[in-house]
Amino acid sequence: MRIDVVSLFPEFVAQMAGFGVVGRAVERGLVDIHGWNPRDHAEGTYRRVDDRPFGGGPGMVMLIDPLRDALHAARAADPRPVRTIYLSPQGVPLTQARAAALAAEERLLLLCGRYEGIDERLVAAEVDEELSIGDYVLSGGELAAAVVIDAVARLRPGVLNDGESALQDSFGDGLLDCPHYTRPPRHALGDVPEVLMSGHHGDIAAWRRLQSLARTQVRRPDLLAAASLTDDEHRALADPGDFPSPIPGA
Ligand code: ADE
Repeated sequence: MRIDVVSLFPEFVAQMAGFGVVGRAVERGLVDIHGWNPRDHAEGTYRRVDDRPFGGGPGMVMLIDPLRDALHAARAADPRPVRTIYLSPQGVPLTQARAAALAAEERLLLLCGRYEGIDERLVAAEVDEELSIGDYVLSGGELAAAVVIDAVARLRPGVLNDGESALQDSFGDGLLDCPHYTRPPRHALGDVPEVLMSGHHGDIAAWRRLQSLARTQVRRPDLLAAASLTDDEHRALADPGDFPSPIPGA
């Protein structure tokens, strides 16, 4: 998969592509990441990329032409069709399902804004999809692009070492993840739940599932409403006695 990023700070993108799971994906040649700076396509001594908004108001708006030329240069760098995504708080919220759909693409082109935003005509003409990573405002789209790259890259085949772990993550099944423990089994901060050391795979799976359900009920009831539960699971959730659980805030 190839991901191009149009940004006034392409070094940021290069940096994040060097670490952790994304870094490993790049090293293995599974994901290629390229940055494009609209300033390289701006004109004049000052290489202007923004101007004041029509209608007045604070802040600046990014000009059409430097962004358009950067997008076109990025598209032309590879013959495969590409999906163009503008990161903005006005976008549709990013979900695990959306990340999975994007991971099936062979190319993505991420457009990062700065200042008050981008001239809407550029968005209308060049963007396939507008994505938000949450209901808060960042100073630019770069952190959001990094989030999209991470969420997508880890779903590409061969990126995660344990093929299972993406499925077991929070949201892989529409629920929050269960708690995890490692050695030592006894510690001043508490003991590891006995069932996890029992060696009974069925009991362990059932415990994890109930923990996921309980956490989701407490922290994200909106997700639980969309999940499909068995009658037993509904009953267990209705009776908190079934959850001797260390859930903060529960
Ligand atoms: N740019 C600024 N804020 C953003 C957000 N919440 N999501 C995506 N892009 C953004």
